[in-house]
Amino acid sequence: MKALGIDIGGSALKGAPVDTATGQLLAERLRIATPEALSPLAMGRAIEELRVHFKWRGPIGVGFPGVIQGPRILTSANLHPKFIGLDATKVFSAATGCRVALINDAAAAAQAEMKFGAGRGFMGKALLLTLGTGVGSAIAYQGTVMPMELGHLPWKGKSIEKHVAASVREEKNLSWEEWGRRLCDYVATLENIIWPELIIVGGGVSAKHAKFFRYVKPRARMVPARFLNQAGIVGAALATE
Ligand code: BGC
Repeated sequence: MKALGIDIGGSALKGAPVDTATGQLLAERLRIATPEALSPLAMGRAIEELRVHFKWRGPIGVGFPGVIQGPRILTSANLHPKFIGLDATKVFSAATGCRVALINDAAAAAQAEMKFGAGRGFMGKALLLTLGTGVGSAIAYQGTVMPMELGHLPWKGKSIEKHVAASVREEKNLSWEEWGRRLCDYVATLENIIWPELIIVGGGVSAKHAKFFRYVKPRARMVPARFLNQAGIVGAALATE
């Protein structure tokens, strides 16, 4: 009932051992900054560093920011291109000597929130968005989580995440209002397609929801993820079950 949950992000990987029966972190999480895009082998070494830090011997769940099918990574929009097509469970198990389960990072966050967090017990249609380096998304309907790639809706010839991700606010020095308005338009588009009853917002910026929620005017109830930026760690651990 314990697993090491690891959330691979655009600028860091974060991990902690998790009690998968309660969603509690069993130790303070460790963050390893990755200012340069790590190759799969270097990422394996960073995961091994996390494992050694926690003296972990047991299952490891890894959330990755890309499309996952079975043990394979199919896309890597914001990380090293060498991940594309890779059986990452093999590479990460070889690096750590542990059994590794792989899940999309936003789907992981959604699993954690639906099981233990802001969506606990909610059986309607929920949309979860993670706002970070990219935009992660998942839908949960009657408690079942489905990974989505709504950050890659086309926008002026590119992916809309290049317009609305939290990283764009920082890079372009947008005010909370300017960025909030972009988010408002994006969420309105998503609502017209998905009609969620609940929107859960995760990712690093969710801790600052008070600064931008007022500019997004959704039809649905919108709440920050209960685990804030740690939902991905908890959900990655759940993927080992
Ligand atoms: C990826 C998604 C991921 C999201 C958030 C996107 O660029 O394609 O798979 O969930 O970033 O990390």
